[in-house]
Amino acid sequence: MERIYVFDTTLRDGEQVPGCQLNTIEKIQVAQALELLGVDVIEAGFPVSSPGDFNSVVEISKAVTWPTICALTRAVEKDIEVAAEALKYAKRKRIHTGIGTSDSHIKYKFNSNREEIIERAVKAVKYARRFVDDVEFYAEDAGRTDNEYLARVVQAVVNAGATVVNIPDTTGYCFPDEYGAKIKYLIDNVDLKDAILSTHCHQDLGMATANTISGVLNGARQVEVTVNGIGERAGNTSLEEVVMAFKSHKDRGFETNINTQHIYSASRMVSSLMNMPVQPNKAIVGRNAFAHSSGIHQDGVLKNVETYEIINPKDVGIDDNAIVLTARSGRAALKNRLSSLGVKLEPQELDEIYQKFLEMADKKKNINDDDILMLVGKDARLDRI
Ligand code: KIV
Ligand code: ZN
Repeated sequence: MERIYVFDTTLRDGEQVPGCQLNTIEKIQVAQALELLGVDVIEAGFPVSSPGDFNSVVEISKAVTWPTICALTRAVEKDIEVAAEALKYAKRKRIHTGIGTSDSHIKYKFNSNREEIIERAVKAVKYARRFVDDVEFYAEDAGRTDNEYLARVVQAVVNAGATVVNIPDTTGYCFPDEYGAKIKYLIDNVDLKDAILSTHCHQDLGMATANTISGVLNGARQVEVTVNGIGERAGNTSLEEVVMAFKSHKDRGFETNINTQHIYSASRMVSSLMNMPVQPNKAIVGRNAFAHSSGIHQDGVLKNVETYEIINPKDVGIDDNAIVLTARSGRAALKNRLSSLGVKLEPQELDEIYQKFLEMADKKKNINDDDILMLVGKDARLDRI
């Protein structure tokens, strides 16, 4: 199996989301949950951005032992000095520095030119290497940077000492095949020495997970993700989707260090601390991710879960799947629920109750156990007791 490193940026890219700001204590809680999950790298913040962010990186560095703690900087000496200072208690530390490489960033953000950007990138990496052995470089907006120039940037920063090179699709613009081809082009045209390439994809067109997987299939060995996919604008690649995609497709030969049984609790923690609800149909961690509501599906699942489930909910820390009773449910689901409530009916009685159930379900969105017991009548309830 090929090991894929998981770099979690919930506390940096995720925390940039308006309304999602956390205080230091809350950030430590999230960092500890990430450690329990088994992420390899925690991007703890952007220390130069505020005293609060600086302090959080310091405290997370003290509170967490196993993962590498990473701090973000621009390709600016002051940022790098402040990041190095914030990381001083980290057992393993990484500085993540970088600069925009697309023509639009070079022209509009930096009023510069391609050669000057390479010089600034190299200078930043060399400067960061004075403080730490592990330096990651990000080529911001690499998704819209032409591959030939991007390869020159990547070669220059690797020669300057970068250990990881991040290829962000900052604007979530790429198609999966295009992003994969970009990674392959870099693998084929850059002498990476011992450095690895990292994916960092955004969700603007809903393709972040697909792009990340495509990056890995083409040679990237680190994935940058967030819990629940939170992040700038439409968000980042979600940790749970990528990790479970690899776990569900073991035949592809990739594995991560994530203890997947902690996924659901980490998701709940991030959602509640950040006050950011998870959409019900969110893959892996949404309320409906393991809920079966149509009669055809319920019948199949009750015969064998394999018919409609590709993941065992227990693998992500969810107790069980849910058979939700709605007007689309069939007799099999109703019979199963009645039997779990201790009520056994003859086929003809079941038919009668099923008709009453459908009438009720057409009027009422959620049918709970009390409703079902009410339908079968007081006697059945007493029988059960
Ligand atoms: O999306 C992006 O380009 C980033 C970089 C700062 C890594 O978040
Ligand atoms: Zn980003």
